[in-house]
Amino acid sequence: MVKNKIISAYEEIAEKYNELIDHKPHNAYYDRPNTLELIQDVEGKIILDAACGPGKYAEILLSKGAKVKGFDISTKMVELAKERNNNKDDFFVHDLSLPFEMFEDDYFDTVICALALHYLEDWNLTIKEFCRVLKPGGSLVISIEHPFFEYNYFNSEKYFEIEHVNCTWNGFGNPIEINSFRRPLSECIIPLTDNGFYIDKLIEPKPTKEFEKLDPKHYKELNEFPAFMCIRAIKK
Ligand SMILES: C[S@@+](CC[C@H](N)C(=O)[O-])C[C@H]1O[C@@H](n2cnc3c(N)ncnc32)[C@H](O)[C@@H]1O
Repeated sequence: MVKNKIISAYEEIAEKYNELIDHKPHNAYYDRPNTLELIQDVEGKIILDAACGPGKYAEILLSKGAKVKGFDISTKMVELAKERNNNKDDFFVHDLSLPFEMFEDDYFDTVICALALHYLEDWNLTIKEFCRVLKPGGSLVISIEHPFFEYNYFNSEKYFEIEHVNCTWNGFGNPIEINSFRRPLSECIIPLTDNGFYIDKLIEPKPTKEFEKLDPKHYKELNEFPAFMCIRAIKK
């Protein structure tokens, strides 16, 4: 089952991912600055970090005065998020693709889900749950792999389909197979607009200058073609 492969891959790389996350160029100097740009109002807000990984986003949001809860499907990632944030209670194991029964309706001001939705074949239930747990007018901020980038990267010939794909990551110790689902642009937008949101802002990100010093090759490439896309959607 694809999900089990995804879980075991993240269990295997969790420690290394946590070690590198503070300065890994694609995260620290590409995804995070652009995604955080979409969350302006943080102090005193209640924020859900869905698929929190080792809790780096949570760490930043907590340091800006938010109250943060986070979950991830990987037990090791959740342990690391607890350690990083010196917090035992607010981080727990949960699967994004199942109902968020632990949260009441209209609870969060903001939900962030960074670089994780491509692990789900069907986004509808998850987006409905994001909508349910957000206060009216609350924001959902997501970062995803850019659908045009994925179409090229995976040499797809079926743009309009949601396809199971895999690749090998070499940046986290031993090479590791990563399974995910690529989808067309419409399948990134329609699950939001069909399940209670309107799109407020969309960023096709550019890397920051710090990226250039660490990885000039990808800095050049990312200035020519985006790999990620960041979206802010508002609960209607
Ligand atoms: C690329 S990491 C991103 C982590 C974090 N959001 C960040 O940006 O630093 C993807 C995370 O998604 C988690 N994940 C994958 N499938 C999931 C699912 N079905 N439910 C919850 N988390 C999942 C993985 O365990 C991993 O921690």
